[in-house]
Amino acid sequence: MIMKPLLIHGGHIIDPSLGIDETGSLLITEGKISWLGRGEIAPPQPDYDIIHAQGLIVCPGFIDLHCHLREPGFEEKETIATGTQAAARGGFTTVCCMPNTNPPLDNQATIDYVKTKAATEGAVRVLPIGCISKGRKGGELAPMPELASAGVIAFSDDGQPVMNSGLMRQALDYSCSSALPIIDHCEHTALTEGKVMNEGIVSTRLELYGMPVAAEESMVARDLALAQLTGGRLHIAHVSTEGSVELIRRAKEKGIQVTAEVTPHHLTLTEERVTSYDTNTKVNPPLRTKRDIQALIQGLRENVIDIIATDHAPHTEAEKRCEFALAPFGISGFETALGSLMRLVHNGQLPLATLVSKLTCEPSRIIGDKYGKLGTLATGAPADVTIIDPNLEWVVDIRDFASKGKNTPLASSTLKGKVMATISRGKLVYKDDSIKLSNNLVKT
Ligand code: DOR
Repeated sequence: MIMKPLLIHGGHIIDPSLGIDETGSLLITEGKISWLGRGEIAPPQPDYDIIHAQGLIVCPGFIDLHCHLREPGFEEKETIATGTQAAARGGFTTVCCMPNTNPPLDNQATIDYVKTKAATEGAVRVLPIGCISKGRKGGELAPMPELASAGVIAFSDDGQPVMNSGLMRQALDYSCSSALPIIDHCEHTALTEGKVMNEGIVSTRLELYGMPVAAEESMVARDLALAQLTGGRLHIAHVSTEGSVELIRRAKEKGIQVTAEVTPHHLTLTEERVTSYDTNTKVNPPLRTKRDIQALIQGLRENVIDIIATDHAPHTEAEKRCEFALAPFGISGFETALGSLMRLVHNGQLPLATLVSKLTCEPSRIIGDKYGKLGTLATGAPADVTIIDPNLEWVVDIRDFASKGKNTPLASSTLKGKVMATISRGKLVYKDDSIKLSNNLVKT
């Protein structure tokens, strides 16, 4: 398909990979960034579309290292089609999907299935993650070399931890030769079985069983020790406690190869939200305290935490319409991620350029450039671009979600900061109604 060139004109370009934070324009031709100019006149084109981006931020497309697209097997919760449309609405142009599907992504055939579906139905790029253990059962290693040659970008049993330390050691050993990270869901199940929220005063008051922070931190400590032993590549998923941040900080100081992520909900919502008994606040790891949030933000600012990932975990309304203890864990996160994270920018807790780097060049560094140079607006890179209005206030209306998962605690909240357009591989895959394509360089 031949695509018309697209000029994004006069926006505030923020690209931490290139050190750019100024007004400029961007030309997209045949799916690639073909020109990036700082204030100059764009090279004339015979026929092109123009987006006037004055007053808007133009940045590399967001990359989500951690989401659940649910296909194959749980299509009632989400499909690759609906999940990637939701991703596009959230400004994400690359999403890495977790293997807790049915069947789990633990062999070449299942990876091929996801890749084929993504190629035909995906609105944005989908990079699959393979299982650490066969069937996610924690007993024996999945065929890692087979999965690596099928094109997985990492390994994880996310949704549950690898309780067998010997198996985790083997997985980390393999990551040395494959150079693919092991994405670690840190949870000691002996401390969390049957528990539904953070353990503390709030869980006592609500008479709900709580998970202690030690359930996460004891596994973070174990796996940092195993990463040191093996020299393997460890990536800690959804870090949620002050103690985990401290453990990762010390491991990095020692030179252990570890990276870490935090979700928008763990950065912005506390356990107090559970007081409503809204099952949409039920997530694993659970929402924690203000003090944990402060440590997580500090961790981001100091690069102890490398990236922000959504852990988009859609569930059906029927599954969440039950008493708190019985509901599944998870928050539908793609479509509110940017809006909720912008609160940290507006509060002065995180510079906008840092937020952009945690969503673009930093996750790209973890994935590597096997799939082309991602997370950058450098000329020649795939044209993955996100345009945002940092100041636009909007109300979250779950009826507008492209995701099948309406399970957000942010329904009806007002957020400040909105994705206005998303371009994936040169194609405009989402635009707000207020964005008009023009063919006139002068804004009318
Ligand atoms: O809340 C969660 N939901 N945490 C996980 O680790 C898994 C996820 C899911 O798959 O629903």
